Amino acid sequence: MRQRIIGDVSVSAIGLGGMPMSIEGRPDRKRSIATIHAALEAGVTLIDTADAYSLGGKPDDEGHNEILIAEALKSWHGSMDDVLVATKGGHTRIHSTDGGWDQDGSPAHLKEAAKASAKRLGVDAIGLYQFHRPDPRVPFADSIGALVELLDEGVIRMAGISNADVDQIREANTILDDRLVSVQNQFSPAFLSSTAELELCDEMSIAFLPWSPLGGITGASALGSNHAVFAEIANARRLSPQVVCLAWEMRKSEVVIPIPGASRPQSIMDSVTAASIKLSDDEFARLEAAAVSA
Ligand SMILES: NC(=O)c1ccc[n+]([C@@H]2O[C@H](COP(=O)([O-])OP(=O)(O)OC[C@H]3O[C@@H](n4cnc5c(N)ncnc54)[C@H](OP(=O)(O)O)[C@@H]3O)[C@@H](O)[C@H]2O)c1
Repeated sequence: MRQRIIGDVSVSAIGLGGMPMSIEGRPDRKRSIATIHAALEAGVTLIDTADAYSLGGKPDDEGHNEILIAEALKSWHGSMDDVLVATKGGHTRIHSTDGGWDQDGSPAHLKEAAKASAKRLGVDAIGLYQFHRPDPRVPFADSIGALVELLDEGVIRMAGISNADVDQIREANTILDDRLVSVQNQFSPAFLSSTAELELCDEMSIAFLPWSPLGGITGASALGSNHAVFAEIANARRLSPQVVCLAWEMRKSEVVIPIPGASRPQSIMDSVTAASIKLSDDEFARLEAAAVSA
C-alpha cells in the first residue's frame, strides 16, 4: 500500500481506527480480531487506539481496545515489525455511566496511563503516544511536559497530540523540542473546522490524522446521501462514497493519514482501496467545492 510518514516511521497511507470495536455497540471479540487481521492482511501498518476506548462507567473495561489489538497482533501470522500502534491518554470513561468522556491531562495521570498502555500493548516502548485532548483544568504546557518526560524515559518512542488548535500545535512542538510528529483532529466533509490545523501540519511536515474521517460511527453510512457529489463521483468510478472521501482527504496533503474506524472486515477492506485512488484535478475541485458548501 502507498506509504506516508509519521516522525521517522513509514506507515500505510490509511490507518485503522479502533474505537468502534470497543465502545457501546461494539461487536464480539471474534469479529473485532477478524477486522484487525483483515486490515493487516490488506497492508495496514497504522492502528489507532486509546486507553479510553472501552465501555463508559466500567473501570475493569479500561484498555479494552489496546488489549484487543495486542491479542490480534499476537495471533497475526505476518510480520509485526512495520506495524505502528498509536495510542492515546488523557481521556477516561471510568466514571461515565452516561456514555460520556472525562478528562485528566495532569502529568501524573499521563505518565501512569502511558505505562499502563505499554503494559496492555505488551511493549517496552509505545510507538506513538498522543495526548488525547487538552484539559482546561491543567496548563497545556504541563501536559506536554509529561510527553517530554515519557520520551526522555523511553516509555514512548514518538509523541503526538489530538484535538489541538494551531497555537497548541506550535506550543507543543516548541516544548517537545521539534519532536511533535502527529496531530489527530476531527476532519471530514461534514466537519471542516480543523482546516487551519491541517494546513499548519502540512507547513510543518507533521502527520495529520483526521478522526471520524467518514463522519463518525453513526454518520459514515450516510456520507453519500449527505454529500451528493461524493456519491456522484463514487458511482462514476464504481467506488463507495467512503473511499472517495478518504481519497479526497489524502489528496489535500501528503501529511494526511486518515484512520477510518471499523468493526467489520468488509469496512476496512473497502477503505484501504482509497490509498490507490488518484482523483483527477476536476474531481478534486468538485469535491472541495461540495465539502465547503455542505
Ligand atoms: N482523537 C479523538 O478525540 C478521536 C475521536 C473519535 C475517533 N477517533 C479515532 O478516529 C477513528 C475513526 O473515527 P470513527 O470511528 O469515530 O468514525 P469514522 O471513521 O468516520 O466512521 C467509522 C464507521 O465507518 C464505517 N466504515 C468504515 N469504512 C467504511 C466503508 N469503506 N464503507 C462504509 N462504512 C465504513 C464503520 O462501520 P462498521 O463499524 O460497520 O465497520 C465504522 O463504524 C476512531 O476509530 C478512533 O480511532 C479519535
